[in-house]
Amino acid sequence: MRRIIYRSLAAPALDKAEMFRLVYHARMANEAKGLSGVLLQCEQHLLQILEGETWKLFAAFEAIRRDPRHTAVEVMFERSIPQATFPHWPMRYFDERHIAKALTLMQAEAGGPLCSPVEEAVRAFFVEGFAAHETVRPSRPGAARPSFPRLC
Ligand SMILES: Cc1cc2nc3c(=O)[nH]c(=O)nc-3n(C[C@H](O)[C@H](O)[C@H](O)COP(=O)(O)O)c2cc1C
Repeated sequence: MRRIIYRSLAAPALDKAEMFRLVYHARMANEAKGLSGVLLQCEQHLLQILEGETWKLFAAFEAIRRDPRHTAVEVMFERSIPQATFPHWPMRYFDERHIAKALTLMQAEAGGPLCSPVEEAVRAFFVEGFAAHETVRPSRPGAARPSFPRLC
């Protein structure tokens, strides 16, 4: 079992309708391959956490990396993991409208605080997203701040 976390920038062609199609197909493909994870979007900024068996994960990521619907793909984390963080999410998608509750739902799905690499990547993404998108705010103070990151 392995995890890749990367960030990228959505191309102009990746509008809301195209993203809806992308996520729909990604879910079906990931389900068939036993892959799972989360895709976050804040304006053009994307962060994806993708987990699964190593060779299936690498094959999927090679296709994703070459996909012209996004650019500036930058891998932030790539390592073996003991178990999937979001095993029941073939690809959960949150955009800037739902970003405030994303962390709460992610923690609920993970069964507790997120492990530190995931928590750090998501937190950094949120901080940048909140800064770039002034109308986006956590639902209540501290809502997007998990405590006691779990190591994995
Ligand atoms: C931001 C982003 C995230 C994607 N996530 C996935 C994913 O989780 N699973 C997947 O199968 N395809 C995903 N895709 C689509 C792949 O890049 C590619 O279109 C798909 O794997 C089909 O590739 P193929 O035509 O080579 O079979 C994503 C694309 C983008 C731009």
